[in-house]
Amino acid sequence: MTTKEISGVVLLAWRRNQLSLGGRSVDLDWLLDIGGGLKWSCLQKLFLEPSRKVKLTKSLEKLEICWRKHLEESIPLQYLVGYCPWRDFELEITADALIPRQETEILVDIALSIRSLNSSGVWVDLGTGSGALAVALARALPAWQGLVVDCSPNALELARRNLEKLAPNAKWELFLGSWWEPLKPWWGSIELALVNPPYIPSAIVEYLAPVVRDHEPRLALCGGPDGLSHLRQVINGATQSLSKGGWLLLEHHHDQSEIVLSLMKENGFKDVDYGSDLSGIKRFAIGRWF
Ligand SMILES: C[S@@+](CC[C@H](N)C(=O)[O-])C[C@H]1O[C@@H](n2cnc3c(N)ncnc32)[C@H](O)[C@@H]1O
Repeated sequence: MTTKEISGVVLLAWRRNQLSLGGRSVDLDWLLDIGGGLKWSCLQKLFLEPSRKVKLTKSLEKLEICWRKHLEESIPLQYLVGYCPWRDFELEITADALIPRQETEILVDIALSIRSLNSSGVWVDLGTGSGALAVALARALPAWQGLVVDCSPNALELARRNLEKLAPNAKWELFLGSWWEPLKPWWGSIELALVNPPYIPSAIVEYLAPVVRDHEPRLALCGGPDGLSHLRQVINGATQSLSKGGWLLLEHHHDQSEIVLSLMKENGFKDVDYGSDLSGIKRFAIGRWF
């Protein structure tokens, strides 16, 4: 990677110029940081002391091409840059998979806070997409066996590259197929399942911001007419797939907590509870199978 030193005055003028084209400063600063290697803290120092010099890993011309493409075609910056930070690592990102969201990091925190987890066992990440949850689990639970599923071959290949790079010494295997189906040989022995399924009701998908609606895979977004089609399948399938005492951790839409918790209880789950995102919204459902 080549780095180029430029004057802070030039950079700040360039930044003002780009913002005059449109877009949010938070996104442009993300591009400068993740795409150009200019840490947010360095940019803040530059505002106070513009005479400083800064190093960039990409030319301003290349960064401008990304920014204009983002503005003109609503392409997410993560797809244009090709990677994105998530938890304590950086994932390769392509348009074959959902861009992992910050709130989904909490699903991992909930999993790792379960006190009854053994020192080894079997975890699954169903609908892995970029492999974000799988990488986090593989790194945090290196003595466990990981089973990673997606029905999109391209997403699964992306997850493979991320796992190979970020969790090369952990034990994980990839499976192409629908939810629990490809894991039949492990049914009854899975102790921990993390699932962030598509949960947006089909009609609402059409009203999402173009940056999501027109670029992220429909397969990763659309949860059927009421948004619950996949959640129902996952909860139902968990009853034959989890071990006795096994945990199911789900992410869902902002208004689905009550119904998802009821579905888990109706299916015989115990210790059913919710988890909240950083805004205090109930976005996660947790239950234990006995
Ligand atoms: C909301 S995305 C979550 C991606 C990733 N786990 C994350 O949190 O960023 C849902 C994922 O489920 C996958 N998916 C959709 N239907 C599926 C099915 N029937 N079986 C397995 N995976 C499915 C999609 O391809 C997509 O990668």
